[in-house]
Amino acid sequence: MSLCTLTILPDNKTIQVPKGSVLLKAITDAGINIDSSCGGQGVCGRCRVVVVEGDYKPEPTTHLTDKEVEQGYCLACVTLVEGDMRIRIPPSVQLGKEKILAGVKGEVGYPLTVGHWEINPRTKKLHLKLPPPNLDDSISDLERVSR
Ligand code: FES
Repeated sequence: MSLCTLTILPDNKTIQVPKGSVLLKAITDAGINIDSSCGGQGVCGRCRVVVVEGDYKPEPTTHLTDKEVEQGYCLACVTLVEGDMRIRIPPSVQLGKEKILAGVKGEVGYPLTVGHWEINPRTKKLHLKLPPPNLDDSISDLERVSR
């Protein structure tokens, strides 16, 4: 079994995968999550990536136009790695890069100011220290938090 070098952009991550590997699995094994709503069944058309260069074997699909195929797009879940490849994952397909802005009043950085905008989230994180329940004080956790 020969190994192929797969380079994944924009993270610029390089891994070795056996020839004939499914591209979606190789991407996932590299620790990169992409949108694959149908779980790799070739149904949703969400796992589209761009092959910058390299040898690969895509299955025909109705989810990509001829122009997209010419541009190197393929569905990662129905594409086999046939040689060394360099692929690019479009931003619309990347998962796990979202960040939640949050802060607690009185902590450094709260409220957050970005340019001219002050971000004052409606949801705030609070740290509570509650005494553990005992036989003399056996109210529910909700009542304990309210109290
Ligand atoms: S994961 Fe749905 S088409 Fe590839």
